[in-house]
Amino acid sequence: MIGRGIALAVALVAAAGAARAQDQELVARGRYIVESIGGCGNCHTPQGPNGPLPGQHLAGGAVFDEPPFRAVASNITPDPETGIGRWTDAQLALAIREGKRPDGRIIGPPMPIELYRGISDRDLSAIVAYLRTVPPVRNAVPASEYRIPLPPAYGPSVTAVADPPADDPVARGRYLAGPLGHCVECHTPMAAGGARDWSRTGAGGQPFPGPWGTSVARNITPHPSAGIGAWSDVQVVRAVTGGVSADGRRLFPPMGYAYYARMSEGDLRDLLAYLRSLPPQP
Ligand code: HEC
Ligand code: HEC
Repeated sequence: MIGRGIALAVALVAAAGAARAQDQELVARGRYIVESIGGCGNCHTPQGPNGPLPGQHLAGGAVFDEPPFRAVASNITPDPETGIGRWTDAQLALAIREGKRPDGRIIGPPMPIELYRGISDRDLSAIVAYLRTVPPVRNAVPASEYRIPLPPAYGPSVTAVADPPADDPVARGRYLAGPLGHCVECHTPMAAGGARDWSRTGAGGQPFPGPWGTSVARNITPHPSAGIGAWSDVQVVRAVTGGVSADGRRLFPPMGYAYYARMSEGDLRDLLAYLRSLPPQP
């Protein structure tokens, strides 16, 4: 009897240990996404003249003042009063992937929901698990104002999204540049009517005004003169992770170079494979 009890206790402890290891793996994956390719803090952590404000990691408050909106980045720390601390995991997941808050209000731009709809189930759980571990910061953020109508939803409910195949660098790179990293959001021109012209993915052209003046998203397709077709892999990686163009010019925000600098070598390789696979755009 006693022997069986001990065996059961040992099995339960082992199971709890395995579950904890799995949780830790999920949190580590979430931290990697949020702090590198996802660059959530590039919008959600307020910046001072010397970079992200200390003690304000993901605490929101940055203002995006553009003709169609004055959007304020939300506090996405687990503070129960001013952040997402009272939301369930499912509510947080729905907000990130589909732009729906627990009270039904839709999340507006520039949060790139159109692309976040493609975040895989596993990565979405990882992001949620990591956000739970971030230190809560009390920071009440004013509501955004939209002078354009927001859609009632960004599309039908997303039921299941699989990870990209591990043995397909271009597919993995497409996932990194789209749903996880939203490179193609900034680097794809708008068509008439306000939607992105995905037939010209990577062609650049969108202006980004800010304290730095106005930077214009560059052509990152393999076109030999208009794009990065003549650049070496090292030059592309230096631009993405170091903010230095092939000719040595320092690149301006809002691209989150410091976040991309934390990407793994494997992810950078896959990202390159995808960029090299894009149809060259003049
Ligand atoms: C390009 C800027 C940008 C990026 C990148 C971005 N967000 Fe946001 N996010 C915003 C803005 C602005 C809002 C508020 C929009 C509004 O008020 O409707 C927001 C809202 C949210 C909300 C709703 C919170 C609330 O209290 O209403 C969540 C959750 C969120 N973002 C999570 C994330 C996560 C996780 C990432 C990274 C995977 C991310 N965001 C990346 C700009 C961004
Ligand atoms: C928030 C918008 C934004 C996002 C997201 C973004 N970029 Fe950029 N990117 C820009 C802008 C704007 C520039 C031009 C900056 C300048 O000229 O000073 C730029 C410059 C570049 C350059 C340098 C090109 C040149 O001719 O010098 C490369 C390469 C690049 N981006 C690739 C990427 C990749 C890959 C990703 C995703 C991992 C990405 N960008 C995400 C806005 C963005």
